Order: sequence, then structure tokens, then C-alpha cells
Amino acid sequence: MTDLSAAHDAAVTDRARLAGSAYNGDRDLAARQSLYQWQTPRYDLPGLVAEQLGDVRGRVVDIGCGNGKFIQRLGQDRPDLSLLGLDIAPGILAGVPGPVAVADATRLPLAAGSVDAALALHMLYHVSDIPQAVRELARIVADDGPVIVSTNSDRDKVELDDLWQRAAGDVLGVGRGPARISLSARFSLEKASAFLGEEFSRMEVVELPGTIMVRDPDPVIAHMASYRAWADQHDVPFGATVDRARTLLVDHIARHGTYEITCLGGILVCRR
Ligand SMILES: C[S@@+](CC[C@H](N)C(=O)[O-])C[C@H]1O[C@@H](n2cnc3c(N)ncnc32)[C@H](O)[C@@H]1O
Repeated sequence: MTDLSAAHDAAVTDRARLAGSAYNGDRDLAARQSLYQWQTPRYDLPGLVAEQLGDVRGRVVDIGCGNGKFIQRLGQDRPDLSLLGLDIAPGILAGVPGPVAVADATRLPLAAGSVDAALALHMLYHVSDIPQAVRELARIVADDGPVIVSTNSDRDKVELDDLWQRAAGDVLGVGRGPARISLSARFSLEKASAFLGEEFSRMEVVELPGTIMVRDPDPVIAHMASYRAWADQHDVPFGATVDRARTLLVDHIARHGTYEITCLGGILVCRR
């Protein structure tokens, strides 16, 4: 039997796949980010991060900054800060206001104690050596500076996992098909404190529960399709499964009026 979780881990952290396909532009990341506009309550994540940086002056680095959602907002709200965006994928940095650089979270091109705060938002689950990235975060931040990390719970969006398995089952002609890949499982909210606790003695966890409710299948299907970089990891034809999921979703919305997804994300504010 193939060890699915080991194969999934390797695929979730594979740099060629991350830089060359998953994050070579921001189409798929933007599809995942935009689903939250239908969430209640609506959390202003960049605003929450800006709030946590209230007392910080000086240099802030955003590691795995992606399409720069947080850098852009901090640039507006906190023009006094000196911001730097780092990411392993050159393609996703194209529209991010500079300075930006291509860099790996496990080998940061920054001197010890050289930043006043560091962000690692929804990215540590993509790093193959998570303990090494956590050591790097602790190394670069000065004195009492905060390191702000975010991720999702293992219970996040379980309805989408169920929808996928039903659709995959229909495609394969079996009851329930194989599970879809989980990006955050390696560093979920449930696992994050143990990793971070190795380097940080103080940690505040802010849980962000919510419910996404849609009447239109498109944003949900766009979210599901945003895993296309990992299509080969699904043991079921990816496009056909997405199409079947759409049919199931349209049918659900026709019968119930809405489709609901429960969400649980969180922010961890860490200090040495
Ligand atoms: C899910 S996106 C999150 C982007 C952004 N932080 C946000 O929360 O919107 C993950 C980002 O981490 C980057 N990444 C993955 N592995 C990395 C690594 N080892 N070092 C630096 N960046 C990495 C990816 O290229 C991608 O842009």
C-alpha cells in the first residue's frame, strides 16, 4: 500500500511544485483568499496583524508573503515601518510592493536580531523542515519582538473535504472516493504550538471560527480547483471530480437555498 500521507507531505513541500506551479502567480492563492468574503463573522486578517504590531517600530519581514496582501495593508496603515517581503516563488512576488526577495524560510538572508517583528502567515505547512524554519524565525527577531504565525485547524472546511470525497466516489463509481490533499495538516492549529514552543516561551493563540455561506457555487468550486497544482496527488481524475462537485453543489443549493462551510483558522503571536 502506498503511504499517502508521506507522498502528500512531499508534494506539499516540493519547492519545484510550489515555485513553478502552485505559486507561480496568484490565481490559486487569490481564489482561496477570496472565499472568506462570504464568511460570518468576517475577520480583517491584515487588520488583526497590524493591531498585533501596534507597539512595533522599525523593520518587519513577511516570510512567505505570497501576493503581498499583508505587506500592502501594512504599507498603508503603518507607513512608519520598514517592510520586507520574502518568498520562495519568484512569480508570486511580481505585484508585491518592494523591497522583496526570493528566499527560503529555512535559510533566511537576515542577520541575528535584525528585525523587530516577523510574519509567517499560512506558510509554515509548506516548509519541509518546520523546526529549522521556527529556529530561523527566533534567530532573526530582536529581543521581545513578536513573531506572528497563522494557519488553519484540522477541522477547517470539513464540508469541502466531504464534498470532494462524494464527488470522487461518483467519478470512480465507488461509495466514497479518496480524500483530497490537505495543505495545512503538517502545521495545523492543533500542531503549531508544539513546533513553536521549541523556540518561544510566550505564545498567544487567537482562534478565528466562522461559517462561510454561499448561494452561488462558483467561489466554492474556484477554491476546490485551486488545488490543481496537486492534481496528481488525488488518485482520481482532478478535473472530473471538480466538475462532479459542482453538480452536487448546484443540487444542494437548489434544495437548501445555501451551502455552508465551517471554518477555523488562527493566529499565534509568539515571543522568545
Ligand atoms: C498559502 S500562501 C500564503 C501567502 C501569504 N502569507 C498569505 O497569508 O496570504 C504560502 C506562501 O508561502 C510560500 N512558501 C512556501 N514555502 C516557502 C519557503 N520554504 N520559504 C519561503 N516561502 C515559502 C509560497 O510560495 C506561498 O507564496
